[in-house]
Amino acid sequence: MKIKGRKILLTGAAGFIGSHLADALVEDNYVKGYDNLSSGKIEMVEHLEDNDSFDLIIADVLDTDRLKKEMEGCDMVFHLAANPDVRLGASDTYVHLEQNVLATYNILEAMRELGTKDIVFTSTSTVYGETDVIPTPESFGPLEPISLYGASKLSCEALISAYCHTFNMKSVHFRFANVVGPRSTHGVTYDFVKKLEDDPHKLEILGSPPGTIKSYFHISDCIDGMLYATEKSDKKVDYYNLGSEDSISVKEIADIVCREMGLEDVQYSWTGGAGDGRGWKGDVKAMRLSIDKLNSLGWKPKYNSAESIAQTVLSLT
Ligand SMILES: NC(=O)c1ccc[n+]([C@@H]2O[C@H](COP(=O)([O-])OP(=O)(O)OC[C@H]3O[C@@H](n4cnc5c(N)ncnc54)[C@H](O)[C@@H]3O)[C@@H](O)[C@H]2O)c1
Repeated sequence: MKIKGRKILLTGAAGFIGSHLADALVEDNYVKGYDNLSSGKIEMVEHLEDNDSFDLIIADVLDTDRLKKEMEGCDMVFHLAANPDVRLGASDTYVHLEQNVLATYNILEAMRELGTKDIVFTSTSTVYGETDVIPTPESFGPLEPISLYGASKLSCEALISAYCHTFNMKSVHFRFANVVGPRSTHGVTYDFVKKLEDDPHKLEILGSPPGTIKSYFHISDCIDGMLYATEKSDKKVDYYNLGSEDSISVKEIADIVCREMGLEDVQYSWTGGAGDGRGWKGDVKAMRLSIDKLNSLGWKPKYNSAESIAQTVLSLT
């Protein structure tokens, strides 16, 4: 799917990943960012304010008239806007259905009505649920998400696939491991840094030792891998795992955060969480994605999980 020289609608542009993607896309494209600022912030993209290749529209994907108006003239969509808070689904069963599934349906309907053909979608490792195949390849199935967030993203993938086959569109779906790096506003590394800034002597950790064991990767690898794979993709509907080649435990993350913040003898206090090391219901215990498909195209991440976490701590402090 060609990217260069296009007019792109980028939803979620004022968020963590969206703002970095905007930085990369404006090099060769016109980018119209679209964000309701529910978790995003204008500061994330204010350095692009004077860039003629970028505009930020503050609006909701659920506002179908506005969405269609702003999409008009764009020939490609990067759809990142979503509620990414996995934990929420256990207490609010509607939020991911509305913010992720309905929002994606609105995007697809606007594309169908306007004749926009190409969409890149940010999905997640949580669509796999708890697999007994690790590293997990894109071809793994049946997919059995254990969180409502994972279920919503899998539903989005299914809708996108059906629209592509029914209305002659093309899509690339990225199933991300945990993305970390500058401008992150959520996730375990961010959470630990903030807690330790408040109290450098003790750290509350969700779960039980050593916590979940997952793969983390740096935002620079995330953007680089996305653009690389999208350019190479020539299928109607294509899927790529994107992550680092290893995984680390929550306890190791805590150790890295303390080390990088120059803290010693921090007392860890584990909450017990949802059993088997999980921090909460719907938290996957072990996750590492096979990135062989991207490797076979000639792409590799620059950083492993520990390096990505260490760099993130430095960028947040
Ligand atoms: N960060 C990760 O580790 C990770 C992992 C897997 C998948 N993802 C996916 O990547 C995408 C970006 O995630 P992120 O970490 O940057 O999250 P984020 O919360 O920083 O970004 C999401 C952005 O979407 C905007 N938004 C949400 N609902 C909207 C709506 N209805 N209309 C308009 N804008 C809306 C928010 O204001 C925010 O700026 C999401 O789709 C997420 O599910 C992220």
